[in-house]
Amino acid sequence: MAADPAGRAAARAAELRALLQHHAHRYYVLDQPEIPDADYDRYFQELQAIEAAHPELLTADSPTQRVIGQVLDGLTPVKHALPMLSIRTETDTTAAGAEAFDARIRRELGLADDAPPVEYNAELKFDGLAINLRYEDGLLVQATTRGDGETGEDVTHNVRTIGQIPLRLLGSAPPPLIEIRGEAYMRRDDFERLNERQREKGGKTFINPRNTAAGAIRQLDSRALADKRLSFFAYGLGDVKGWAQPPTHSATLDAIAAFGVPVNADRRVVQGAAGLVAYHEAIAARRDALPFDIDGVVYKVNSVALQQRLGFVSREPRWAVAHKYPAQEQATRLNGIAIQVGRTGKLTPVAKLEPVFVGGTTVSNATLHNVFELRRKGVRVGDQVIVRRAGDVIPEIVGRIPAPRPAYVPNFRMPRECPVCGSRVLREKGGIDHRCSGGLFCAAQRKQALLHFAGRRAMDIEGLGDKLVDQLVDGGLIRTLPELYTLGLAKLAALERMADKSAANLVAALDQSKNTTLNRFIYALGIRHVGEATARDLARHFGALDRVMDASVEQLLQVPDVGPVVAQSIRSFFEQPHNREVVEQLRAAGVHWDEHAGSETANAVPLPLSGKTLVLTGTLPTLTRDEAKALVEAAGGKVAGSVSKKTFAVVAGEEAGAKLDKARELGITVLDEAGLQALLQQGG
Ligand code: IVH
Repeated sequence: MAADPAGRAAARAAELRALLQHHAHRYYVLDQPEIPDADYDRYFQELQAIEAAHPELLTADSPTQRVIGQVLDGLTPVKHALPMLSIRTETDTTAAGAEAFDARIRRELGLADDAPPVEYNAELKFDGLAINLRYEDGLLVQATTRGDGETGEDVTHNVRTIGQIPLRLLGSAPPPLIEIRGEAYMRRDDFERLNERQREKGGKTFINPRNTAAGAIRQLDSRALADKRLSFFAYGLGDVKGWAQPPTHSATLDAIAAFGVPVNADRRVVQGAAGLVAYHEAIAARRDALPFDIDGVVYKVNSVALQQRLGFVSREPRWAVAHKYPAQEQATRLNGIAIQVGRTGKLTPVAKLEPVFVGGTTVSNATLHNVFELRRKGVRVGDQVIVRRAGDVIPEIVGRIPAPRPAYVPNFRMPRECPVCGSRVLREKGGIDHRCSGGLFCAAQRKQALLHFAGRRAMDIEGLGDKLVDQLVDGGLIRTLPELYTLGLAKLAALERMADKSAANLVAALDQSKNTTLNRFIYALGIRHVGEATARDLARHFGALDRVMDASVEQLLQVPDVGPVVAQSIRSFFEQPHNREVVEQLRAAGVHWDEHAGSETANAVPLPLSGKTLVLTGTLPTLTRDEAKALVEAAGGKVAGSVSKKTFAVVAGEEAGAKLDKARELGITVLDEAGLQALLQQGG
C-alpha cells in the first residue's frame, strides 16, 4: 500500500499513463474512442501536474513526453528546422481566463499598473492538424506534420491535394526560404457531406472533422483524400531566410495572406485584457455559426520584439495562450430511443438523453440517423454515450462508452407501422432508410411538409411555426399545401390561443409570401434530394417552372451538380399528377414569381468565376480539357489560350510547359486540378 503522499502520486501517475496509453490507441489507431476528448485532456493535465510536482516520477515513455501522433511506418520522418511549439492552454472558459493571461504578460514584462495596455492579436483556435509548409523560392517543396514537435512526418503528397494551399506563392519576389505554419482542417459542411455519403453507402461514418482531417493527412496513399475535402488556415512562421519578418504578428499574417496562403479573417488586434475578453465573448456568440470547429481562441502578444523578450518555457512560448470554450463532446446516459417521422416519411431514431451541457447548450435529444448506424455503434438504452454538438448541426451520438450492462437490454428495432399514422413502414431494397408509406395522409409528413414550405429559406411565412402547424393539421383545417392560402381571418382567429392580431399578421404574411422567386418555390415544394443549392441551379438552368416540370432525366442531368439520383427524384415528383395539381393550385391561389429571372436577385450568389479568365495547360489527373473548360464556363469564367497579366489563374497539369513558365514569370496564381475544384466550390 502506498500510504505516503509520494507513493500515492507515483501510483496515480502510473495509472494515468496506462489509461492515457489505452485511450490514445483507441482514438488514433483504432478510430474508436471510448471517452470524450475533454476527459482525455483532463487525465493528461492531471498527469502533467503530478510530473511537474514530482520530477523524479517523469519517465521517458510518459505520454506527456510524446505528443501523440507517432511516426507511422511508411511516412518519412523529417526533423523540423525549427521546433514546432505548442501553446499553453487556459481551461477557465470564463473571462477570468483572458484576464489571467494579460496579468501574467504584464508581470513578466515588468509593466507598472498605470502603463498602457499591451497590444495582442486575437485569433481562432482551429481544431485540426498542425502542418508546416516549406516554400523555397516560392515553391512548395515539403509539408510536414508536427509529430513530437522536433520530428514530424513528410505528408507533402497529401498536402498537395489540398486545393487551398498554393503550390507556388503569389508575388514576384518570394523569399528564398519561408516556412508557413497552420492548421489543416475539415469544414463542417464537408464533413457532413462525407458522412451523408457514407450513410447512403451503408459505410462507416467518421467521428468528427478533426479526426477525419488528421487521419486523411497521415495516409500513405493520397487517393484516400479524394473524397475528403480539406481546408487550411495559416497562423505563423517557422524557419525563414532572406525575408524580413514584419514587426508585428498581425502584419506577418497579412504578409502570409498576400502570398496567397489562406489566413482566417476573424482575427483582431486588440488592446489589453478588456480587448481579449470582448473578443472571447464575440467569438463565443458566433461559434455555432462558423463553418468549421474551433475549440477556443488564441491570444498572442502582437509585437515581435516583445515576443522575443518574453521567450519560451520548455516547448511553449510565454507570449501566447489558448483560451478554451466548452467542449463539443460530452458523455451522458441514453434514457430511451424515440422515432421521428420526417417530411419525406423517413423514420429517424432519436436518442432521448439525460440532459447534458455540450458545445455551450443543454442537449436532451440527439439523432441516431438510422437503424444500421445505431447497430454499428452498438448503443442500447441505459448506455453511457458520447454526444457531439457542433454548430447548427443536429446533435448526434458518436458512440458508446463500453461498460458492462446491468441486465439484458433488447436490441432496438424499427417499428413495422408508422407510430404517427399507422401506415406500413417500408424499406427500399438495399436502402438503409425506413419510410412511412402514408404520404400526405400521415399527419407527421404533412406537418413537416408545411413547416418546410413555410420556412425562412422557402416561402418565408412568418408566424407559421410548429405549434400552429400542429393545430392546423390536428384540427383537420389543412390537408394540402395550397389549402394554406384558403385560411381566412375567421378560421384562424377561431383557433385556440390565437389572438386577432396574430391571425391578422399571419394572413398578411401568407399574402406576402405569394410574391416569391422561382428557386424558393422549387425548394419549398420539398422534392427529395432538392436542397437550396439544387433549387437555385434548376431555376438558373431552366428559367421557367414548366421547363423544370417537363424536363427529362437527360435534360436534368445537364444541370451542374445534378446526378442520376437527384434527376430521377425530380422527374418522379413531377410525374405524379397529384404534385402537378399542387403546383397548379398554388399558382391559382396567387403564388407567383418572375419567370426567366433565374435565381433570385436579392440574395444572388455571384458565380465564383464571373469576369475571370483562366488558362488551362498540361494534362489534368481526372478532367479532360473540354470538361475543365465547361466547368470554368459554368462558373461564369472564360478560358483563354494564352497567359497575360489579365489572367486570373493558370490551371496546370502534368507536362505543362511554356504557359506555366509565363505564369510564374508574371506571378500569376497556379492551381492544380484540386485547386480548380476548390475555386469552383466557392460561393456555390
Ligand atoms: S500558434 C508558437 N495559433 O493549437 C505557437 N496554434 O498547441 C504555435 N492551433 O497544435 C501555435 N489554431 O496546431 C496557434 N491560431 C492558432 C492556432 C493554433 C490552432 C493549434 C496548433 C497546435 C495547437 C497549439
